[in-house]
Amino acid sequence: MEMDEQARAPNAFLQAINKIRDDARAVMQGPAPQWLMRRKVDVALLQSVLDAEIACVLRYTMISVSETGLRHAAIGAEFQEQANDERRHMSLAAARIEELGGTPDFSAETAFRAAVKRDVVKDFSVHIRENLEAEQSVIEHYRELIRFFGTRDAETCRLLEDIVRDEEDHTSDIEDLLASYRN
Ligand SMILES: [Fe+2]
Repeated sequence: MEMDEQARAPNAFLQAINKIRDDARAVMQGPAPQWLMRRKVDVALLQSVLDAEIACVLRYTMISVSETGLRHAAIGAEFQEQANDERRHMSLAAARIEELGGTPDFSAETAFRAAVKRDVVKDFSVHIRENLEAEQSVIEHYRELIRFFGTRDAETCRLLEDIVRDEEDHTSDIEDLLASYRN
C-alpha cells in the first residue's frame, strides 16, 4: 500500500477519542444542571478523561512492545514512558471521580478496542502520525474541560492542567520521533 493511501485510511484511535469528546461536549452543552445534578455532570466529564487515558495506556503499551518498539530501543522506551504517564493520568482521573462521590468505570470497551486495533499493513510512521492526531484531539478536549471547570471546581481544573502539560510533552516527543524516523 502506498504512503498516501495509508495516510487516508481511517484513524480508529482518533475516532475513538473524538467520540469520547463529542459525548462529553453534549454533557457540557446540556441544560444547566440543578445543584444536585452538578456532581453527576462533573463525574461524567472526568469519566471522559478516564476513558481517553485508558485508551492511551493500552495504545502506547501496545506500541512499546510491538516489533518496531522492540527493534528500536528509543521508540520502545519512549512509548513505555508515555504509557506510564497515561497510567498516572488514569489514576488521577479515577481518584478524582471517587472524591466527587462517583464510581470510575474502567470498561469503555468500544473505545479501547479501537485504540489498539492492529493494522499490520500500516507503516509504523502512520501509527505515530495517528497518535499525534489523537493526542492533539485529547489536548483540545482537556482545554475545553479546563475552561468548563475553571469557574466551578479549582481542584479538578488544576489536575487537568497538570495532565495537559504531560500531553503537550508527548506531542512534541512524537513529532521528534516522527522526524527522526523519516531520516
Ligand atoms: Fe494522558
